[in-house]
Amino acid sequence: MKPRASTTERLADPGTLMATTHAVGGNLRVRLRLTRPTDAPAVRSFLERLSPETRRRRFLHAMPHVPEAIARRFTFYDPRRRLVVVATSFEDGCDQIVGLADVAHIETGLAELAVVVDDDRQGRGVGKLLTEATAALAIEQGATHLKADLLVHNAAMLALMERLGPTTRTYEDGVATIFARLPARGRRAA
Ligand SMILES: CC(C)(COP(=O)(O)OP(=O)(O)OC[C@H]1O[C@@H](n2cnc3c(N)ncnc32)[C@H](O)[C@@H]1OP(=O)(O)O)[C@@H](O)C(=O)NCCC(=O)NCCS
Repeated sequence: MKPRASTTERLADPGTLMATTHAVGGNLRVRLRLTRPTDAPAVRSFLERLSPETRRRRFLHAMPHVPEAIARRFTFYDPRRRLVVVATSFEDGCDQIVGLADVAHIETGLAELAVVVDDDRQGRGVGKLLTEATAALAIEQGATHLKADLLVHNAAMLALMERLGPTTRTYEDGVATIFARLPARGRRAA
């Protein structure tokens, strides 16, 4: 089987990724930025709009309603320990959140990544962009490996982790934990 292309040799600078408008699939143009406290209502509404299955895949359990505390977790955080990036698209006269990724430093060299994309925009490359930006930010802060917990049949998230670098994995109770070795700091796309 042909190995999946890895971003190992070409992870872009996070500043560049954040400063650019990205054309992804289906004529969608997105921008990436860190969340801020005033995003809490928009983040909650984004999470509420997700289908139950997408929300289950993101949080690994059913979440019929999104508690306010969850939205706050994505918008009030200590940036030395945790960073949250949104992908936004300019629609109907304003910026709409179409994807959300967070990366938390859990021990020296290891950060945990989670990502979710609006149901209608999945499969167009938004997840790829968010993953690359958060991985690049994690590297800047000293991460050498990224970890993600996902339901075992989550092929899309597995593909995103495999793009970052060589992976290892463990399985427990229907959840796969994937570890990706990140490119060394300073090794950037030209
Ligand atoms: C996982 C998720 C974030 C991917 O985002 P996305 O924008 O749909 O993904 P992209 O379009 O960037 O595609 C990423 C890769 O996944 C592959 N992919 C996308 N959808 C897929 C699917 N349904 N089945 C298999 N592979 C898929 C793409 O082909 C691509 O792989 P490639 O680089 O080898 O071509 C999105 O599906 C999602 O929000 N899922 C629900 C939440 C979730 O599962 N989060 C993971 C746990 S934290």
